[in-house]
Amino acid sequence: MTTEHTPVPYTGPQRVLSGVQPSGDLHLGNYLGALIKFVALQDQMECLYCVVDLHAITQWQDPKQLTRQTREIAAAYMAAGVDPKKAIIFPQSAVPEHTELAWIFQCVARLGWLDRMTQFKEKTGKHKERHSVGLYTYPVLQAADILVYKATHVPVGEDQRQHLELTRDIAAKFNHDFEAPAFFPLAQALVEGPGARIMSLRDGSVKMSKSDPSDQSRITLTDDADAIASKIRKARTDPEPLPSDEDGLKGRAEADNLVGIFAALSGQTKAQILATYAGQGFGQSFKPDLANLLVEKLAPVSAEMRRLLADPAEIDRTLAAGAEKARAIAAPIVADTKKLVGFWPG
Ligand code: AMP
Ligand code: TRP
Repeated sequence: MTTEHTPVPYTGPQRVLSGVQPSGDLHLGNYLGALIKFVALQDQMECLYCVVDLHAITQWQDPKQLTRQTREIAAAYMAAGVDPKKAIIFPQSAVPEHTELAWIFQCVARLGWLDRMTQFKEKTGKHKERHSVGLYTYPVLQAADILVYKATHVPVGEDQRQHLELTRDIAAKFNHDFEAPAFFPLAQALVEGPGARIMSLRDGSVKMSKSDPSDQSRITLTDDADAIASKIRKARTDPEPLPSDEDGLKGRAEADNLVGIFAALSGQTKAQILATYAGQGFGQSFKPDLANLLVEKLAPVSAEMRRLLADPAEIDRTLAAGAEKARAIAAPIVADTKKLVGFWPG
């Protein structure tokens, strides 16, 4: 999407914000597309990581499970290596400034912009009239999540690129309409890396997702070694052997996905992985090695998650302290925004 407004350079501090919905078990796509980037960034910039419970309720969530899953996502952040002493971890709904700014942004964003959002179309299919209004305005709330902290960098998977474009369009239009050049930054999506788009293990043409009805399609952070080994053994491939270079992965979505997962987890390139396994069948040593690598990387995360979840009161203390720190950043930004809009007392 393009805007007719010319961007003016933003000179405020660099800041990271991202979020994950507490709407189901975290999977390998979330881990590689988001969590490991969260960890890497916490030593480079000020980071805020929220559990986006307001986004989760755009589709029905059982209230008791929502609370539990919110703690689980917070535990997953920390188990993956996010350190609450370095990064701010909090539940989105505990910072009311997100919803306050979202309303203002609903009056900035155009219906035509939202009509183009592919994620809404994917989630609703043929029956959009049965879905919540919140699911439609979801990307506007996401823009508010980011801009309520004037965040400049947003680590996410590939599927969020379009929402980040919309966030920039909203920032640019707000800055233009209220004659406040560079008031909001044009936030940049941090998508790069082989883990940006992990596909289903059953079908290389659809992304790995929490909502796929088949449990075999994804590896979750709570899968044990046996489950991981069995899912990888059964993961769909094609009858050809592994190719010797990346060109040989073209048109072979399932093979490409497994090699990509191997590369992302091992910190190697796809070419390096192929150099080791070229010419072999997938079942020979590639799949067993991949399963071992997954267990090696994920088992400590899930063990640490279990340890943290055994003490929910400690997680709650972390979330409450995080919410307080987040509000301290958001409140003055929302106050300035309201002034620009002309809300009383001006
Ligand atoms: P969600 O589960 O939709 O709340 O997504 C949380 C984060 O994980 C976002 O940054 C997504 O872009 C990322 N993500 C979700 N699914 C995948 C996937 N299959 N591959 C890579 N990243 C993903
Ligand atoms: N829409 C994101 C997803 O489904 C979650 C999200 C909500 C988010 N608010 C955000 C991600 C702000 C980055 C920044 O994955």
